[in-house]
Formats: sequence, C-alpha cells, structure tokens
Amino acid sequence: MNTITAKIAEIFIKKFSSAPAIYFSPGRINLIGEHVDYNDGFVMPAAIDKGIYYAIAGNGTNTIHFYSLDFDERFSIDIHDIKKNDNWKNYLLGVINEFLLLKKNIRGFDCVFAGDIPPGAGMSSSAAVEGGLAFALNEIFNCGLSRVELAQLCQRAEHDFPGVQCGIMDQFANMMGKQGEVILLDCQDLSYQYFPLALEGYKIVLLNSMVHHALASGEYNVRRKQCEEGLMFLRSDNPARSFRDIRKWENLLAYEAVMGKEVFMRCMYVVQEIERTKKAAAFLQQNNLIEFGKLMYATHEGLSKLYGVSCTELDLLVETARQNPAVIGARMMGGGFGGCTINIVKEGSVNDFIEQAGAACKEKFQITPEAYIVETGNGVKKIVA
Ligand code: GLA
Repeated sequence: MNTITAKIAEIFIKKFSSAPAIYFSPGRINLIGEHVDYNDGFVMPAAIDKGIYYAIAGNGTNTIHFYSLDFDERFSIDIHDIKKNDNWKNYLLGVINEFLLLKKNIRGFDCVFAGDIPPGAGMSSSAAVEGGLAFALNEIFNCGLSRVELAQLCQRAEHDFPGVQCGIMDQFANMMGKQGEVILLDCQDLSYQYFPLALEGYKIVLLNSMVHHALASGEYNVRRKQCEEGLMFLRSDNPARSFRDIRKWENLLAYEAVMGKEVFMRCMYVVQEIERTKKAAAFLQQNNLIEFGKLMYATHEGLSKLYGVSCTELDLLVETARQNPAVIGARMMGGGFGGCTINIVKEGSVNDFIEQAGAACKEKFQITPEAYIVETGNGVKKIVA
C-alpha cells in the first residue's frame, strides 16, 4: 500500500467501522490527437501511474456517504434523491445517475477518496474520478458492464452533470490503459490498437503551467459548437461527410467564406490534426521519435494559433522546450486554457530542462511550474479486495 491508500483505508475504517475495497483509477496523457476525439479523429492516449484512489464498500442502506480527503469535504445523499450539486460532487453524482438511468440495482455505499493528480491540470482528474467510482459500483453491485460501456457511461455523466461536452478519449484511456503501451483510438467507431511506447533514453515530463482550466470549460463547449457548425457547411453537399473525409485542409478553402474566419480556422486545425495523428502513429510504430516530436510541436502551433485553446504561459513553456535540444517534442496537452505541457526529454537532461523552464516562467509570470515525470500504467483496477 502507498501512503494515499493507507490513509484512505484508515479514515474509512474510522468513519464507517468496516473494511473497504480499494481501487485505483488513473489519469492520462495524450501523445497526440488533441481536440479531435469529438471530431471523428484519432487520439493516442495512455493511462498513467498517477490518479485517484477509492476506499469503498456497500452499506446495505439507501444512503451514500462521500468524503473527499483532498478537499476535506463530506457529502451524503439518498440514492432516490440524486440531482446536480457543485464542483467534485457532480462528477460522482453524474456517474450514479447513469447507473440509475440504466436501471442498475445499485444501493447505498460509503466512500473515501483522494488522489495524486492535480485537478484542472489537463491530466484528466475528472475522468479518473468518474471511472474509479463507476468501476467500483459495477463490481460491488454486479452490474455487468464492460470497460468500454463504463467509459461511455462516464462520458455521458460528464455531459449531463458537470456539463462539459467532452469526447471519449479520457474515459477510454482511464478504463482501457495498459502499462508500457499507448492506445491508438479511432474515435469514429471506437476501434483501437495498442502499441508499445518505446522511449529508450527519453522521459515524458509534464510541466504544469499552474493556470487552472476549470473556468474555461465553457470555452471547451464553444469549440465543440464551432466544429459542429463547420461540419454543417461541409455536409451541405454530402450529409455523410466527417472531418476525416476532407483529407487535406486545402479542400476546406472552398468553404472559407461561408464558414467565417473563426469557424474556418477551427476546422482547418481539426483536419490537419487528424492527418498529423495518422502520420505520428506511423512514426511512433517505427520508433522514429525525432519525427514524432516535430509533429507534437506542429500540434501545439495549431492548438495555439488556429484552435485558440492555449494561453501565454503554455506558449512560453513550449517555446522554452523548442529552444532546448534535449526536448524532441512538446505541446500543450488536454483541453487547454491552462494545465500541462507534455514534453519528451532526453533522460540525462530532465532536471536541467525542468530548471530552465521553471526559471523562464518565473521571470515572465512569477509562476513556478510543477513538474511530473510520468510512466504509463494500467486502466482502473481493484488493488485491495
Ligand atoms: C478534454 C476532454 C477530451 C478531449 C481533450 C482534448 O480532456 O475531456 O475529451 O477532447 O480535452 O483533446
């Protein structure tokens, strides 16, 4: 047991006088394929070794008790009275609501949870919170849902309760991750393949800009709407068309005037990113990290200039990486508007890079970014029965 699991188990036993099962629910990284999961694109995420830990057990009543150790907040609710609340509670209540909508026979339970991923940092703490609870409830109450069905359930929960119209990437990686592997997920039909992440001599380093992105979740939904609007124009002469059928962004030029500048730029990014992710997957499978890294920089450029989801702090972190020969690829990761950059850094130069990026950020923004060296890991699992 690590310190978090020991702590939540101890608190659980004290509060509820019974022994819980313990589950671990990972966050994720995404190597490339950003903001295309809701646009019929490909993404390349992996679950990581950081996430949310749950101590949980059914209590034989109709009452649910939660205690969030990180926020030091408790919350109880009757299972017949599930409705929206605020903040972290909505991620959990949304999941319970989805089980109820499916008419699954879940009942009251006690739950203590805590994590080692920062919220709002682009490592998908929200999918980790949702997935850990969904997986545990599915086991405790024998609901019989598969991992993919649980990922879809969690995505619906996030749409309905917190109200973020997210794609499927985070929930899929949370459920389906495999240690040492990345997932190449086709978001059009949810077909996927794993391939090994062979990073010999390199490490994945996340740098947290410390700009919290929850407030910008409204902007996330705006991007989704803009893409839907763009797609409407593309479908005016072929109703079955998806972004990936456009193939080259130049094919969009014919629609520029009708779309308007902003929607056109969003669509241009999406078409480019879908193509880029296909190329990137091929480079990664050939272990060509150098070419792969160049595409990461190109993705950042697109996210910043065309898709408008970066911020000056993230741009500075990526620019600092670009000027450092030990960093072969870097970009903002996840929803954006803050959160982390993902960097592929030569093993012996990790500390120097962290220091250099920290100094640059401190000088310009009086912020010291947190750094995390992450490893890939497995999807949600029970760690103590
Ligand atoms: C968030 C969403 C994902 C995905 C990314 C951007 O993490 O939850 O579905 O859209 O942003 O790629």
